[in-house]
Amino acid sequence: MRNVIVTGGSRGIGLGIVRTLANAGYRAIAVARSRSSALDDAIEEPRRNACGEVRFASFDLDRLDAAADFIRSLRKEHGPIYGLVNNAGISVEGMLSTMATVDIERLVRINTTAPMVLTKYAVRQMMAAGEGRIVNISSIVASTGYSGLSVYAATKASMIGFTRSLAREVGPLGVTVNAVAPGFVDTDLTAHMPAQNRAAVARRAALRRLPQIEDVARAVLYLIGEDARNVTGTVLTIDAGGTA
Ligand SMILES: NC(=O)c1ccc[n+]([C@@H]2O[C@H](COP(=O)([O-])OP(=O)(O)OC[C@H]3O[C@@H](n4cnc5c(N)ncnc54)[C@H](OP(=O)(O)O)[C@@H]3O)[C@@H](O)[C@H]2O)c1
Repeated sequence: MRNVIVTGGSRGIGLGIVRTLANAGYRAIAVARSRSSALDDAIEEPRRNACGEVRFASFDLDRLDAAADFIRSLRKEHGPIYGLVNNAGISVEGMLSTMATVDIERLVRINTTAPMVLTKYAVRQMMAAGEGRIVNISSIVASTGYSGLSVYAATKASMIGFTRSLAREVGPLGVTVNAVAPGFVDTDLTAHMPAQNRAAVARRAALRRLPQIEDVARAVLYLIGEDARNVTGTVLTIDAGGTA
């Protein structure tokens, strides 16, 4: 069974990715600081359906000094790592002029530095195996802009530059690197957004609705799978036509 690490796999979009990958026959290893009851349910689901597997591995992306050991321990426990989905992310909203510098640093550490460092250790194994898949979760705000999200947007844009150059670097060794840019999706991350703003975003979208967790998860499944063997260095936008 192929192992795919999904950071932030305990809730929201990450949990959706974990469930979708497991239902397609992968062993999805959900990484987060703590388990959730929804993840516990997802662990039982493939057992019932006799398909892939869901596992949980606790790790704080703020502890990057431990990243090498963490990736090594996953390989030891589960075998070679085939895929890595850099999905975990945080959002701190606020005007840049008044944002605390510690918040700016934390956003960059969790959303930009952490995926790069985890990828560094996971991609080594993939390069040695001559195959592998990296998927980075960006956002449409990387290219559209949104007042109050300048630092968050910068971290999401960084994932696109990272994706394109790394795709060139590791492509000759059989590893693909792609990004998925979701539009607004209902999760804990966006729970504070007032209902009328949500409705306005949906109204402006070409399809007059918001994308759902499952839509993003299916895009990731495609990029991880064999069908995307000749797709690398791309950004797949899943936003119900919000930026069309
Ligand atoms: N929701 C949207 O509208 C939207 C749109 C575009 C892009 N995105 C991107 O999609 C990704 C997932 O977003 P979401 O909405 O699903 O977020 P979410 O519901 O807030 O879930 C975040 C996940 O990341 C984990 N996480 C947070 N800090 C962590 C840390 N220090 N160490 C390890 N894990 C950590 C959380 O688990 P623990 O708290 O237990 O650690 C949780 O599993 C993010 O990269 C986000 O930027 C979201």
